Amino acid sequence: MSPTAKPLIVVSGATSKQGRSVATSLLESGRFRVRALTRNADSAQARKLATMGAEIFTVPLALDHQREFAEAFRSADGAFLMTPPVAPPSTDEFPLGRQLADAAVEAGVGHLVFSTLENVQERTSGTKYAPHFTDKALIADHIRTLPVAHTFVMLSFFYTNALEYYAPRIEGDTVLMPFYLPEDFRAPFVDPLTATGPAVLEVFSNPDAYLGASLPVIGDVVSPGEMVEAFSRVTGLKAEYRSACSREGLLTYFPELGENPLLVDEILGMAEYAVEFGYYREDRDMEWSRSVDPGALSWEGFLRATDWRGARVSFGG
Ligand SMILES: NC(=O)c1ccc[n+]([C@@H]2O[C@H](COP(=O)([O-])OP(=O)(O)OC[C@H]3O[C@@H](n4cnc5c(N)ncnc54)[C@H](OP(=O)(O)O)[C@@H]3O)[C@@H](O)[C@H]2O)c1
Repeated sequence: MSPTAKPLIVVSGATSKQGRSVATSLLESGRFRVRALTRNADSAQARKLATMGAEIFTVPLALDHQREFAEAFRSADGAFLMTPPVAPPSTDEFPLGRQLADAAVEAGVGHLVFSTLENVQERTSGTKYAPHFTDKALIADHIRTLPVAHTFVMLSFFYTNALEYYAPRIEGDTVLMPFYLPEDFRAPFVDPLTATGPAVLEVFSNPDAYLGASLPVIGDVVSPGEMVEAFSRVTGLKAEYRSACSREGLLTYFPELGENPLLVDEILGMAEYAVEFGYYREDRDMEWSRSVDPGALSWEGFLRATDWRGARVSFGG
């Protein structure tokens, strides 16, 4: 097969944790070409993707770039769409996702895979505030109305949150690990850096099998207490759970969040939603991603693979 005969997949947010996993899996499979969208072609992550064979296309994931989006999607067979982190009070996520999807359809892309989440507004009858979930669900609803084949992946809570956004505090010889979930509450977690790619590769490899599907991507179902215990066992360090699942707890460990009270509301709303309603709707297939990717990392496997010992980590592109 000549290189140009391979299907071309556009990866938005290609330097993100999810996007770089997707771009890497597609390229390493040897069966796809990748066009990687980024704001900065000179970043270390973008250059790494270029070295692996990705075509780099410079465009921001921001509102009102439809002309560049349409150009970015030109001649593509498929596209992986994701929206970057958007904190309230910004309400850009839904219109951004809609503009990305519309541009992909306008450019004639054959199959969209969008990284979505559940509709918290609908599932909780408006009692929990988590717009970064609901807006993704609304984007998925919009994609369902478009004349294009589509599939949705739904990532669990990221393991990386504990390294990147909610890093531990070291006190003496003890690693204090604050979580926005109760100590004994088991929730689905995943490593976005290694699990997103295999799931999306599977979808683009067998597109007809997944038309219209919404597929959870899960590495482990584990409680914060179990995560702390595994951290201690793997690293040999003393570690303790700390509660950041109340406003007071969250602001004790992450006082900088106090600058954005709406973001605090959103984090607490998301956690309450997961505890009271379940992260995923009951009818989702919790086994699919681990059946197509048996090497998916459990939390303990993630700790062993990364050698993480409690320091804050930046995954920036
Ligand atoms: N954290 C969780 O537990 C969790 C769970 C499920 C879903 N999610 C969702 O996952 C998404 C984030 O994915 P991620 O963590 O993989 O992303 P990430 O690592 O934070 O990276 C975001 C990427 O977006 C790109 N980008 C382009 N335009 C941007 C803009 N205007 N503002 C910010 N970034 C921009 C950046 O790449 P360039 O600089 O190269 O352009 C950056 O690499 C969010 O929508 C979040 O809600 C998170």
